[in-house]
Amino acid sequence: MSVPKNQAAWLVKAGSPLELGDAPLPTAGPGELVIRNAAIAINPVDCHMQESGVFVRQWPAIFGCDIAGEVYEVGKDVERFKGGDRVIGHAINLTSGRPQDGAFALYTVIPADKAAILPDEISFTDGVVVPFALEAAVCALSLKEPGVAMPGVATPALGLPYPSLHDVPSSGKTLVVYGGSSSVGSMTIQTATAAGIHVIAISGAHNLDFSKRCGAARVFDHKDTSLAGKVVEAVRENGGEFIGIFDAIATPETYANDITILEQLHGGHLACVHPPPPSTDLPANVSAGMIFAVNDVVTPVWKDYVTPALQSRKLQCLPPPFVVGKGLEHIQSALEKSKAGVSATKLVVEL
Ligand SMILES: NC(=O)c1ccc[n+]([C@@H]2O[C@H](COP(=O)([O-])OP(=O)(O)OC[C@H]3O[C@@H](n4cnc5c(N)ncnc54)[C@H](OP(=O)(O)O)[C@@H]3O)[C@@H](O)[C@H]2O)c1
Repeated sequence: MSVPKNQAAWLVKAGSPLELGDAPLPTAGPGELVIRNAAIAINPVDCHMQESGVFVRQWPAIFGCDIAGEVYEVGKDVERFKGGDRVIGHAINLTSGRPQDGAFALYTVIPADKAAILPDEISFTDGVVVPFALEAAVCALSLKEPGVAMPGVATPALGLPYPSLHDVPSSGKTLVVYGGSSSVGSMTIQTATAAGIHVIAISGAHNLDFSKRCGAARVFDHKDTSLAGKVVEAVRENGGEFIGIFDAIATPETYANDITILEQLHGGHLACVHPPPPSTDLPANVSAGMIFAVNDVVTPVWKDYVTPALQSRKLQCLPPPFVVGKGLEHIQSALEKSKAGVSATKLVVEL
């Protein structure tokens, strides 16, 4: 059999457009898979990496986090997958720095522990919206002990249960998800509600129904001038235990509302996608942290939950994909679209 040719969208230096070029065909090490990619998705961190070179450890670089495709090669000690399986997976160039671990290529290496079989009835284009957002959601919800997100910034440790395949009784706990129509926020709503958590979301006025479709019990418009008061009232109405806020937007504007909500509810967790405000600016009894969305805490979810949950539609491929084009050459325009901003959608490039 002839050896297939790999190609990638390379970042040669920070701030420059991606360049299409040949790439070595990667091989699978122990515990790894090589995937022949059929679709990749774009995340905001990709834009930061391209702009500033942050997280790049080896130049030229191949980055990107989300892939869907077929297993091309199975590494030693991998039992859950075989050649030809349809999968989705989380590519971890972000932490490994190795070009072969970047999604923006025809072939990518992923850890088998960050992959799951994609049911036949779900397209690669739909499935590829899941991996990185799912990893972020589980990191936000289920870490038990604070770790290190970056120097001087801890990860949040909400210690909540993993999502369940079964209908679980309400845990009596309430979580506020700020940014309920974002990719990470909407996946966190899905994951938290599948663990029996009552979710109150904050989303754009045009996305209230979308956040409800993900499982939120109540949704408030992020532009509502009495937003904080309405969220506090909704948390009180539900009673039970207030866990805190997952802020999937993490800007000065959202932090101001987080602080007001946490003040009125006498503290709780503040889990953010970027570094949280300094503790001196936070009310008493607030435990703040920033997620870092590559963590082994997610392994049981990848292994036991993702495939059957996709099959039963308990896990929905949301936000829906918007296909920017077909071919690696479309990744650059997809990055530009992402920088311009999206609303309840995930930008996808088919290959
Ligand atoms: N630390 C980590 O490990 C990690 C991991 C993943 C992502 N992130 C970060 O998390 C952030 C979100 O990523 P993503 O992929 O989920 O983003 P995304 O899907 O591109 O976010 C777009 C959404 O943000 C919503 N939004 C914007 N401003 C808002 C506000 N003031 N209040 C509520 N919603 C608002 C928009 O809502 P409407 O259209 O409804 O207005 C839109 O649907 C990014 O900054 C990313 O870099 C961090």
